[in-house]
Amino acid sequence: MKRNTSNSLLFFIFLLILVFLTSCVISVEPRKSHNRERKPRKHHGHGHSQSPASSPAQTQTFTFDVLSFGAKANEISDDSKALLAAWEAACKVGGKVKIPAEHRFLIKSVTLQGPCMPHLTLQIDGTLMAPPAISSWPKYSLFQWINFKNIHSLTVQGSGTIDGQGFNWWTSSQIYPMQKKGYYSEQIPGMKPTAVRFYSSNDVTVRDIKIINSPLCHLKFDNSKGIKVNNITISSPENSQNTDGIHLQNSQDAEIQHSKVTSGDDCVSIQTGCSNIHIHHINCGPGHGISIGGLGKDRSVACVSNIIVNYVSMQNTLYGVRIKTWQGGVGMVKNVSFTRVQVEDVKSPIMVDQYYCDKQVCKNQTGTVVISGVKFDKIYGTYTFQPIHIACSNSIPCTDLDLTDIQLRPSQKYNGFLQQALCWNSYGKSQGPMMPSSIDYCLRSGGGYIKKISRSHDSVCY
Ligand SMILES: *[C@@H]1O[C@H](CO)[C@@H](O)[C@H](O)[C@H]1NC(C)=O
Ligand SMILES: *[C@@H]1O[C@H](CO)[C@@H](O)[C@H](O)[C@H]1NC(C)=O
Ligand SMILES: *[C@@H]1O[C@H](CO)[C@@H](O)[C@H](O)[C@H]1NC(C)=O
Repeated sequence: MKRNTSNSLLFFIFLLILVFLTSCVISVEPRKSHNRERKPRKHHGHGHSQSPASSPAQTQTFTFDVLSFGAKANEISDDSKALLAAWEAACKVGGKVKIPAEHRFLIKSVTLQGPCMPHLTLQIDGTLMAPPAISSWPKYSLFQWINFKNIHSLTVQGSGTIDGQGFNWWTSSQIYPMQKKGYYSEQIPGMKPTAVRFYSSNDVTVRDIKIINSPLCHLKFDNSKGIKVNNITISSPENSQNTDGIHLQNSQDAEIQHSKVTSGDDCVSIQTGCSNIHIHHINCGPGHGISIGGLGKDRSVACVSNIIVNYVSMQNTLYGVRIKTWQGGVGMVKNVSFTRVQVEDVKSPIMVDQYYCDKQVCKNQTGTVVISGVKFDKIYGTYTFQPIHIACSNSIPCTDLDLTDIQLRPSQKYNGFLQQALCWNSYGKSQGPMMPSSIDYCLRSGGGYIKKISRSHDSVCY
């Protein structure tokens, strides 16, 4: 008896879902008839012409082509509304938002927001372009250009390009002309937009696409978990300021792999609140290398742990692998390993800088973001200035550093003097073959008492 009623209830729910899905598909059509002149477009929007009743509802994938939502793709009209409409439609029923190949869409800053149906796909085969003129950016949305917010399980993929058209931002000084006229508020001096940002999102994959010419950072994950980045290309000119490749902040469980980054700043940057991050098979350069920090600015708390960077290669970068902290911070960096790093013409392949400063001089301060448990293993190749620079805090030294099998030769291209390996206030051990051999004596051994002090700084991180 009971089973029978629940069966018919299930069937009823199934019918409801079918009716709902059908109505969603039909609702796409009236929008199409808004612009009659573009009616004959057999070549796009094929996905949703299929009747959902013809196949089981669970396996149906709906495709929402931006061209079916009024996008003009003429590089002049603002296609953001069409993108938003396609996104909202897909968000409701699940499926795929399509940016078709061989079309270029001008998109102003947009937030593609969830929660949505899971397993959404944004298929980018064409090009999304940001407005090139700084004056066409609204003053309240300079944080980012394309913002994904509160999304669970989304894949962004395709053979297309996200083009931030940042050239005007790179050449503009920190204070814009409009700002002087009072158009921009004083609280956001020199703010420039990140191209693509994921905020408060889980289970996100970004693959195959290109992200180029961002005004600032290209791809940022913030307050997010379960991040996969695979086979993407990031590119902007070497002299474009602050154009980080990938930026992770307050995010956990990320795997970033098989990608190429060319930029004017860090190829990958790991900021406070990050844990359980694996970065591998990344090609970086020109750029500033792969970096943890800057942490602890303005005496802030910073916690970073369980980071693995391996099988990465860099050419013509300022740094190879680096940890940078400001003086006066609080918190801890622990359990980090940089292994199998290939460098070519890199200015300073191994760098720990606890005196990070973006001006000529910064005030000396006591207190530091403590560094403990960092391994550098199998770092090979050529440098143009200094093989190793490990400058730990005067307040609390770095502990448990581990240098294994470091093989760094001066590059043919170096000009001027090469610097010796430098280790300051840093404890740990060196093992295996070392080149230059001065690295053998770089770290101090012992430091058991200091280890205890440094571990006590971990408590602010929980
Ligand atoms: C990587 O992305 C490119 C460009 O989209 C694509 O052609 C290629 O098939 C992708 N490779 C893999 C292994 O997925
Ligand atoms: C160090 O980090 C790695 C990678 O995230 C993790 O597998 C390992 O358990 C961590 N070790 C400790 C002692 O926490
Ligand atoms: C900070 O301390 C260092 C080393 O003790 C010293 O050389 C430097 O002049 C100091 N800097 C400032 C700005 O006080």
